[in-house]
Amino acid sequence: MNRRAVVTGIGHYLPERVVPNSEFEATLDTTDEWIRSRSGIERRHFAAENETTSDLATKAALAALKDAGLEADDVDAIVVATSTADLTFPSAATMVQASLGMTRGFAFDVQAVCAGFVYALSTANALILSGQASRVLVIGAETFSRIMDWTDRSTCVLFGDGAGALILEGQEGKGTPQDRGILAVDLNSDGRYKDLLYVDGGVSTQTTGYLRMQGNQVFRHAVEKLAQTADTALARAGLETSDVDWIVPHQANIRIIKGTAKKMGLDMDKVVVTVQDHGNTSAASIPLALSVGKSRGQIKPGDLVVTEAIGGGLAWGAVVLRW
Ligand SMILES: CC(C)(COP(=O)(O)OP(=O)(O)OC[C@H]1O[C@@H](n2cnc3c(N)ncnc32)[C@H](O)[C@@H]1OP(=O)(O)O)[C@@H](O)C(=O)NCCC(=O)NCCS
Repeated sequence: MNRRAVVTGIGHYLPERVVPNSEFEATLDTTDEWIRSRSGIERRHFAAENETTSDLATKAALAALKDAGLEADDVDAIVVATSTADLTFPSAATMVQASLGMTRGFAFDVQAVCAGFVYALSTANALILSGQASRVLVIGAETFSRIMDWTDRSTCVLFGDGAGALILEGQEGKGTPQDRGILAVDLNSDGRYKDLLYVDGGVSTQTTGYLRMQGNQVFRHAVEKLAQTADTALARAGLETSDVDWIVPHQANIRIIKGTAKKMGLDMDKVVVTVQDHGNTSAASIPLALSVGKSRGQIKPGDLVVTEAIGGGLAWGAVVLRW
């Protein structure tokens, strides 16, 4: 028995409204040129006023189910990675479950900010390997526009809204690194770094918060920790950097993406990049990039894919999977 959690469907959804960098020039002391050169971001999508995280998640989920040729009730569990759920409770995942008309199984959220999708993939993989679920719908969905301080030019130009989803299904492999599916995971966190990236409010503190970030400090940790977690996960899978077909990184900043690839000794033509079109969509960024990468014809069956992400906590990690 060499059970593997294999991706059998993928999809994404982006809100209609596209906001180019130039739109911030009217209200902030910033320029399109500054945002492009410091972050690689050219535009991002923002959810409509009445559009919530679970709305975005449901649309991405429907696209993933369609891609897999499945109905909602064919799925045993839903895991949503988000830090911007519609309500304090119930979970965004149970809201998606209801919106999909799914009447069985179980659903819950995972919160690890920008590393959320990596944590959700790891959780779904564990559910499948332990036999608790055969098929899991894994979603990353965010409306970070709702936690922006629109007067803080150092943060509000960097984030966007969106959702991506995939279906993970248990299949028998041979127990070798040539198997399709998730081959290895590496997760880390270090709560001592809380002050580098956080929201300064929440239910228990009875305040409404906004995202706060010491960008240059986060940057310093990001390249080093991302390259390290990717290398650790690859080693755990019995693979090397030279085996990698695609790095699908968290899309926060093109300079972090390039720095991590360089540290790993990989050319940028092995990296899926969507940050220019989406900005940083936190837990949604990796499934969005996987879905766009597949639709561009970059990621193909049999390819070795490494996803890696870091965010508030700090929390970071990587997943190695064969598509
Ligand atoms: C935020 C980030 C783009 C800033 O780039 P940077 O090169 O580190 O720039 P600094 O923060 O050192 O700021 C440099 C100057 O630009 C200014 N600045 C910040 N935002 C600006 C903006 N939107 N437009 C123009 N100037 C801006 C700063 O005020 C600062 O000015 P000062 O030197 O007069 O104080 C960069 O640090 C970054 O991307 N960090 C990682 C953040 C991230 O991805 N976090 C999410 C991880 S999940």
